Amino acid sequence: MSLIPHLNGFSLKNKLWHAEDVALSDIAKQFGTPTYVYSKKALTDAFNAYEAACVRSNGARRARVHYAMKANSNLAILNVFAKLGAGFDIVSAGELARVLAAGGSADKVVFSGVGKSKSEMIAALKAGVKCFNLESIPELTRLNEVAGSLGVKAKISLRVNPDVDPKTHPYISTGLKGNKFGIAYDDVIATYQAAAQMPFCEIIGIDCHIGSQITEISPYLDALDRVLDLIKALDATGIKIHHLDIGGGLGISYTNETPPAITDFANTLLNHIEDKGFGDLEVLFEPGRSLVGNAGLLLTTIEYLKPGETKNFCIVDAAMNDLMRPAMYEAYHAIVAVNDQSSASSMTYDIVGPICESGDWLGRDRQLKVEPGDQLAILSAGAYGFTMSSNYNTRGRAAEVMVDGGKVHLIRERETIESLFANEKLLPA
Ligand code: LLP
Repeated sequence: MSLIPHLNGFSLKNKLWHAEDVALSDIAKQFGTPTYVYSKKALTDAFNAYEAACVRSNGARRARVHYAMKANSNLAILNVFAKLGAGFDIVSAGELARVLAAGGSADKVVFSGVGKSKSEMIAALKAGVKCFNLESIPELTRLNEVAGSLGVKAKISLRVNPDVDPKTHPYISTGLKGNKFGIAYDDVIATYQAAAQMPFCEIIGIDCHIGSQITEISPYLDALDRVLDLIKALDATGIKIHHLDIGGGLGISYTNETPPAITDFANTLLNHIEDKGFGDLEVLFEPGRSLVGNAGLLLTTIEYLKPGETKNFCIVDAAMNDLMRPAMYEAYHAIVAVNDQSSASSMTYDIVGPICESGDWLGRDRQLKVEPGDQLAILSAGAYGFTMSSNYNTRGRAAEVMVDGGKVHLIRERETIESLFANEKLLPA
């Protein structure tokens, strides 16, 4: 079985890996490494795969995608999605500012997250976001006060914790009883009743999110059924729900996972909602990873090969500060040599970065034919790659480029070393 996921936008042509029509080696030459490389075509195709289910053949809209931008919040990526008609799922005032700077509109923004601050609520109310997804009574109480002080009404949805097992990594499952997220299933009705008493909150929706990198559809259907039951029960108490936000979480193929195709996944959920008699609900999806994950890779150069007694190390110029997922979740990312026709002998390597931590690895036990100076591409790095990067070891964050056909656009410059301590101050003399 191939360990390389099926990719759109990246391929081997004449034994050289390309992003669309541009050889990755040319990108490395022009922009240096480490560099994140995105394919505009892959981003667009993934979005349109959702749209194919969200829009009927007569043009009527069944659902809308609100891109969970925590997966990748570069302005150019947000702008591509905004132009395609996306809404956004944000979790901070910083993300809201990015949406607005990228040409997105606030009235298509839902504000998720378990710990919104007062100032974030003010910023979102002033901008006029579509909805606040709330997760507790204290948060509801605070929003009611803040909205009251501004003399406006906040539109709200409550995030239900449906207590279903998404069968994914424990760090990225969010809809189980023991998780910090959402309102416990048995408390949801009472919490809505409390919300209905708040003069500066207007109930418009209900939402849930059960986890991330979910490769099966059944946990979604379980969660959906539980939420639809709540909508019915709420209706009986006189509380009308206008929209249902199903959350994000559809997984991608990093190696040999076989998640459902995006359009099939979205169609299955939308048909299920209609079949259960809830066809007039407005439906929202909040995908992150499935829109950007396989639309990006991290390009890196080999500094040294270091043979060892038990392991051979391939030391590259990217590190855990650039791509945290292996260190944090032991996540697997396929890694390929950009030049597939090297005459070097094939060896098994651990691919590691220059950071002073044994956890600084990007791939383990990978068979490669490489020499120092060669480039590697770490695949499926478009989601939770750059956004989770840091400056650990005073390393500037990577450059980012987007390829569109035969053109390469620099969408974020490599951070300079001076910029890393520009905000620091010495004590007075
Ligand atoms: N909506 C909410 C409320 C979320 O918390 C998340 C992700 C999403 C949508 C998008 O989920 P997606 O479609 O991307 O699975 N850093 C981890 C993933 C954390 C996901 C957190 N929440 C990783 O690298 O795997």
